[in-house]
Amino acid sequence: MTSATAVAGTNIALVKYWGKRDEVLNLPATGSLSLTLDRLGTRTRVAFDGGDGGRDRVTLDGAAASEKVAARVTAFLDRVRARAGIAARATVVTDNSVPTASGLASSASGFAALALAATGAAGLTLAPTELSVLARLGSGSAARSIFGGFVEMSPGVRPDGTDAAAHPLDAAAGWNVRLVVAITAAGEKALGSTAAMRRTAETSPYYEAWVRSVDGDLAAARAAVAGRDLAALGAVAERSAMRMHASAMAADPPILYWNPATVAAMARVGALRAEGAAASFTIDAGPHVKVLCDAREAEAVSAALAGTPGVLRTLIAAPGPGARLEEVG
Ligand code: PMV
Repeated sequence: MTSATAVAGTNIALVKYWGKRDEVLNLPATGSLSLTLDRLGTRTRVAFDGGDGGRDRVTLDGAAASEKVAARVTAFLDRVRARAGIAARATVVTDNSVPTASGLASSASGFAALALAATGAAGLTLAPTELSVLARLGSGSAARSIFGGFVEMSPGVRPDGTDAAAHPLDAAAGWNVRLVVAITAAGEKALGSTAAMRRTAETSPYYEAWVRSVDGDLAAARAAVAGRDLAALGAVAERSAMRMHASAMAADPPILYWNPATVAAMARVGALRAEGAAASFTIDAGPHVKVLCDAREAEAVSAALAGTPGVLRTLIAAPGPGARLEEVG
């Protein structure tokens, strides 16, 4: 029996991924650009030990995983088993370092950690790009969590997805930024990203315009990262998030992830900027607001957001490393 434990940080997209060119292979319609975080991660141990009565045994945050989560994990492990030529079912123990019931639990760090732990336990050694391709099959954003710091995801052009992988933007290594997370609701998000992306692509009159806008935002974000221009990067991040949400809001039926505290926090970030702070927000498929800022201003930004009506709590995350193996047994 072999086992492996891996750790991965989640990542927050500054140029969003919203739409797939292939749902089965999780191929994104566009590129994206993100920041991997030191907090809000996942630790996963995989052992191909026979599992539990012919099935994989999956434990998530100390309890048996739901059928839905277990099925997703098994589908992912089946790819790893096929590649390694093994049949054994597995025991998977995974823990998220995310505040309980915050609604921030992320499939990004989850599938990045699972990709590394499962291949390690199966005796496979994959290059980082191959790991990124594998993690993407679990969740599109997971491809980016294989790498640390600022990361760009390429959509690729091949039908088999072998060129749809992320790569690190090394020019930004050591840039002292922070991401302040304002949690504005407890519990799970209303509509999962796959279903929401599909509805947006199928029914939103703004979807094609959204897709057309991404390359320009990526070029601007890349230049801002290379030049360490936080104001420019923040401007791209805000407009990318607003364009993504606008495309979703125009779907039929409409998709609205925000609550009143989301909007209050957005306004607060605008006010902080008017006072001179280099702070800009982004929002994912949920109501929380994530604010990119300079490390020296993070405490003040966090305090301002914590004092915004409806914000439940805040936390400050720094850029973090890529996914790594902790032990192979
Ligand atoms: O990887 P998924 O399927 O959970 O989709 C992620 C979608 C967003 O978080 C909203 C945007 C992104 O690029 O991470």
